[in-house]
Amino acid sequence: MARHIWRLFGQGINSAKKYDKLIYFRPFSRHNDQLGIQPQKNKLAGHQRELMKRGLPKRSNISNVENIIVVASGKGGVGKSTTAVNLAVALSEVDGEDGVGLLDMDVFGPSIPRMMNLSASPELDKNDNMIPLTNYGIHCMSMGFLIEEKAAVVWRGPMVMSAVQRLLLRTAWGKLKYLVLDMPPGTGDTQLSLSQLVAVTGVDVLGDVPLNLWIRHGADKGQPITVSHPGSPQAASYKNIATKVIQKISSLKTQI
Ligand SMILES: Nc1ncnc2c1ncn2[C@@H]1O[C@H](COP(=O)(O)OP(=O)(O)O)[C@@H](O)[C@H]1O
Ligand SMILES: [Mg+2]
Repeated sequence: MARHIWRLFGQGINSAKKYDKLIYFRPFSRHNDQLGIQPQKNKLAGHQRELMKRGLPKRSNISNVENIIVVASGKGGVGKSTTAVNLAVALSEVDGEDGVGLLDMDVFGPSIPRMMNLSASPELDKNDNMIPLTNYGIHCMSMGFLIEEKAAVVWRGPMVMSAVQRLLLRTAWGKLKYLVLDMPPGTGDTQLSLSQLVAVTGVDVLGDVPLNLWIRHGADKGQPITVSHPGSPQAASYKNIATKVIQKISSLKTQI
């Protein structure tokens, strides 16, 4: 049995509900004042602008992050987080890069701490940005590192928005070639927040992943199959997707 990752190109993230699973996009516009530091003389006008922006946040580019890959699906429990984790590992292997990040966008039910076997709380750098936790060479950030699991359950739109914004923009990602986003199921506040924060340029179906018990045990034990059994056919299917992601990115770049 195969799990499909659907294909669609040139559509916004809002159309993700019609398609399942792997969405790729690159942000193109840049936030003027990403960290909210206004020059002193513009403070008042800046404050007004800031208030207005709250209604409609500007889309931003994440400094030093070259490509964002979104793993999304309308449904829960279909293997998004497992795919995100293994794709991140596979990307770093296929590309031979240190610069791969993994961001858990599921503020209600984070999976990355368990799947990547990480639990510490992130330190802050001198700009008060959170330093990601690293395992298997992947730089990770998750709400699960920051709060007790149950605390997020009552959150509504604006709080989700601000949490997502912080995780995305106030993490000291360093120089990343790829940032993989593990989305929560559905088309709710997180998807809306993301589409307001970064611009979506393309969506793609990139491969099949076989259903496999090893994949499941690996994910549940905090050892992605791409780490525990790098030579297995299952790991190969994730590497295959990683290769296609890399090819897609380079073909998009030559089009622009
Ligand atoms: N290819 C696969 N084969 C077998 N089990 C899988 C596979 N992908 C995911 N699973 C298992 O399915 C369950 C849900 O996966 P998860 O990645 O958390 O889904 P989602 O993020 O979509 O909610 C987990 O127990 C995981 O280990
Ligand atoms: Mg998940």
